Amino acid sequence: MINAVERKIEQYIAELDDRYVSLLYRNLPHGKRLRTKLILKIAGSDLKVVKTAATVEMIHAASLLHDDVIDDANTRRGKVSVNASEGNKTAIMIGDILYSKAFFELTSISPEVAKVVSNAVVQLSLGELADVELSKKFHTNRDAYLKMLYQKTASLMEASAEAAAILVGKPREPYRTYGRSLGIAFQMIDDILDITADSQTLGKPALHDFVEGKVTLPYMYLYEVLAEEDRAYLVSLHRKRLSADEALWIKSAMKKFNIIEKSYAEAKELILEAIELMESLGEKDLSNIAKAMIEREF
Ligand code: IPE
Ligand code: IPE
Ligand code: MG
Ligand code: MG
Ligand code: MG
Repeated sequence: MINAVERKIEQYIAELDDRYVSLLYRNLPHGKRLRTKLILKIAGSDLKVVKTAATVEMIHAASLLHDDVIDDANTRRGKVSVNASEGNKTAIMIGDILYSKAFFELTSISPEVAKVVSNAVVQLSLGELADVELSKKFHTNRDAYLKMLYQKTASLMEASAEAAAILVGKPREPYRTYGRSLGIAFQMIDDILDITADSQTLGKPALHDFVEGKVTLPYMYLYEVLAEEDRAYLVSLHRKRLSADEALWIKSAMKKFNIIEKSYAEAKELILEAIELMESLGEKDLSNIAKAMIEREF
């Protein structure tokens, strides 16, 4: 049924009636379609469900186009990013077009679904703004980090699950909670993979977050356990293009203090909550999606 969603997105893009946009969109790789999988597993494959998944994927794609401008990233989904190949101006406008077309289509699905999904985009944008603000100087503000993760990433997964529940008359709350826990864990793991995985596997830049100023959970934990001198050294590397030796120092320090395991355990706790919740509702497929997230490598 993912195919029906792909076709719906293609239809929405064709309706824009713009050759350049069509060409650029055709060249965009699809990604994992995780949000679509959540929606279809919760709500089946009625036309409204397919439309909802299509709008969510367009919103997600728009957020990535803008995110790569914000993060100065030159690869995405294993290819050169749009900002790198076409320039920031084009990436921003294609993002705006995808967002706007998605909002336009949402209005013909259901007012409640439109409300839930569009509110998530407000949150997502506030989260990206908070991410930019937080990256200006080194910090260890865990609460601010967690709020930002919720906003920039979990809000759209929460909304996807809630919108799907609305469409089939399932109770909203447990699905919202599931989407939120999964979303926060997903971004925590994304932040871990930035440190542990290589750029080829990720299909996007690796060890890039700290250079961009992002003090993610592993860096906060590392700072906590370091001696004063090493703390100062870590802070001196913040927002700096790292040499091979400096990158190695970070990775070795993370290893020495089991930082990755510690960060991972925190994400896993949230995933286990999501699994338990779905098991209690007899939603085996949804609990399996959460289980697969524990093992994800990109
Ligand atoms: C990437 O999301 C952005 C984050 C929220 C970390 P995905 O990893 O779901 O991106 P694609 O769609 O599979 O490329
Ligand atoms: C998530 O943050 C981006 C969005 C929610 C749009 P990241 O900046 O970590 O995402 P990646 O790593 O570039 O995919
Ligand atoms: Mg990014
Ligand atoms: Mg970002
Ligand atoms: Mg990332």
